[in-house]
Amino acid sequence: MANPKHAAPDHDVHELIRHRWSPRAFDPARPVSRADLLRLFEAARWAPSSLNEQPWRFVVVRRDGSQAAWEATVAALSPTNRSWAVSAPVLALVSVRLTLERNEQSNPLAWYDAGQAVALLTLQATAQGLSVRQMEGFDHDHARRVCQVPDGFDPIVMMAIGYAGDPDALTIDKHRAAERAPRRRKAVGDFVFEETWGRLYQREDG
Ligand SMILES: Cc1cc2nc3c(=O)[nH]c(=O)nc-3n(C[C@H](O)[C@H](O)[C@H](O)COP(=O)(O)O)c2cc1C
Repeated sequence: MANPKHAAPDHDVHELIRHRWSPRAFDPARPVSRADLLRLFEAARWAPSSLNEQPWRFVVVRRDGSQAAWEATVAALSPTNRSWAVSAPVLALVSVRLTLERNEQSNPLAWYDAGQAVALLTLQATAQGLSVRQMEGFDHDHARRVCQVPDGFDPIVMMAIGYAGDPDALTIDKHRAAERAPRRRKAVGDFVFEETWGRLYQREDG
């Protein structure tokens, strides 16, 4: 039977794009090796960025690492995110450098660039059988303190990384339902236009 979490694309795309999705249920008994994690960050490393500034930074916190670090990081999550993310074997805080290394002027594209790095990371994770769910729902000041993010950098997203687990282990009803629901997307025609905004981009000329 088709996996409802795999994309059903209108136009053919690579299997990695079809198969990537963001679970909340992670297998708590399956750790991720350091070598496997390094491959994810290697993928991020090769992302394009404005002026090749590579403004992304990651702080990795492992459940099988320091208990104090793990608990403090989990405590930074919103209660809803904490309810499921605590089962992931790895949390990673994504931060950005706010200014350009070359001249210390502000870098308005830092967040855009970090998003691209994380996008590559999530595809690499999919290729390795791993899953990633990103979270904006966390206390940024708390995470900054716990992960010791220095001035000049801003935390933006926390990632839960691991192997997808049993949806029935999720404690919030709507999360269990969402974990099995088909994924919904706008149609390409809703966001791609031809020559002028709002003019439908069609497969055939005419
Ligand atoms: C920047 C960002 C922030 C997100 N924040 C949260 C969050 O706080 N909690 C959560 O459960 N999911 C969060 N998500 C996951 C999205 O809800 C999810 O990616 C989206 O519903 C599409 O699902 P898919 O990744 O499975 O295609 C976030 C995703 C992104 C990219």
